Amino acid sequence: MLRQDFIYPTGIYLDGNSLGLASHASLKAIERRLQEWQQQAVNGWESWFGLAETLSPTLANLMGALPEEVIATGSITMNLHALLATFYKPTGQRRHLMATSLDFPSDLYALQSWAEREGAELRLIPSRDGYTLEEEDIRAAFQDDVALVLLPTVLYASGQLLDIGQYASLAREKGIVLGVDAAHSAGSVPHQLHDWGVDFAVWCSYKYLNAGPGAPGGLFVHQKHFAKLPGLRGWWGHQKSSTFEMHQHFTPEHGAGAYQISTPSILALAGLEGALEAFQKVGMQDIRARSLELTEHFMALLDQHTPELKVVTPRKAEHRGGHVSVQHPDARLLSLALRSRGIVPDFRTPDLLRMAPVAFYNTEEELEKTVLVLRELLDSGSYQQFRQQETRVV
Ligand SMILES: Cc1ncc(COP(=O)(O)O)c(C=O)c1O
Repeated sequence: MLRQDFIYPTGIYLDGNSLGLASHASLKAIERRLQEWQQQAVNGWESWFGLAETLSPTLANLMGALPEEVIATGSITMNLHALLATFYKPTGQRRHLMATSLDFPSDLYALQSWAEREGAELRLIPSRDGYTLEEEDIRAAFQDDVALVLLPTVLYASGQLLDIGQYASLAREKGIVLGVDAAHSAGSVPHQLHDWGVDFAVWCSYKYLNAGPGAPGGLFVHQKHFAKLPGLRGWWGHQKSSTFEMHQHFTPEHGAGAYQISTPSILALAGLEGALEAFQKVGMQDIRARSLELTEHFMALLDQHTPELKVVTPRKAEHRGGHVSVQHPDARLLSLALRSRGIVPDFRTPDLLRMAPVAFYNTEEELEKTVLVLRELLDSGSYQQFRQQETRVV
């Protein structure tokens, strides 16, 4: 779609669900902020001070939110802690936390710390097949003694997309707070966080938002909660018009901006500033349509040419996100073998090869080549040579 806007590495890149590619716009924005630093030094804060807020209208579009309901800040886990400090209020019998057994571990670590502090349980929605969740099991988790449920929009391993709107209604009915981790859907799948009535959400921008390694993440707080005071406060969340009056008393900025804590990295924020230009050129509906076209084609190719790789990503468009995961006992070795052939997938323990054809820059031809290389590797067994190789990124 916008392949020419990105700096495409040699080979075939199918790991945009882990780290999105650099774009010319991002590099230009970072260069601009670097120059401001050199030429203006501290005076640069004139334009940097409200930089995160200037990104909110575009982010709001991506997340289906009002501009004041979102802010680019922090990172997923840090934002999750900040939001749990505000939204997790165990009272009486209603005190436990609920997440899923297929969540990214960092979310579970954050929830465990809060459960420990409150002497509550962290319960996990079970998976019947180890890769996906059943609607019935998720609904059953919304019990009267649960204070807060955290759900992923898209499961990081299998790529299953959950019907968050349905669970937000259920949460409201039951008086349970619903938080959402949108790491694997932000920039890939349209959201309606406001209309669904989700209480809060967190996401990162180094995946499908292409903002760069360790780029600032984002958070959403529903408008209905604007009267709440953030549980973790810092000067960056103070009312912007009076930050430099240096009051001892915290007055929150209106909306999600109040959840900022510290001075942001302007260079990192610039990566996001530039990356969002692509989302101003192409709307989320078109991005999703192209992503579905690519994943559909990829799954058909995998079924046809490499049937021994079991696609664990749900087939139905309404149940899958932007990546395709296949199961094979030697997935780790296949991932290393693909890399040695210039194709970059990623591996998720214990047996998943995860690949994302990204709407902005991947093509059908790349998927066809990838499947042919996989066929060759499976036929020759040459991937076995990587058995002794230990690497951090596989
Ligand atoms: C689904 C999900 N949640 C949380 C995280 C952790 O993100 P962070 O390092 O920004 O806290 C990741 C990282 O990739 C993730 O994929």
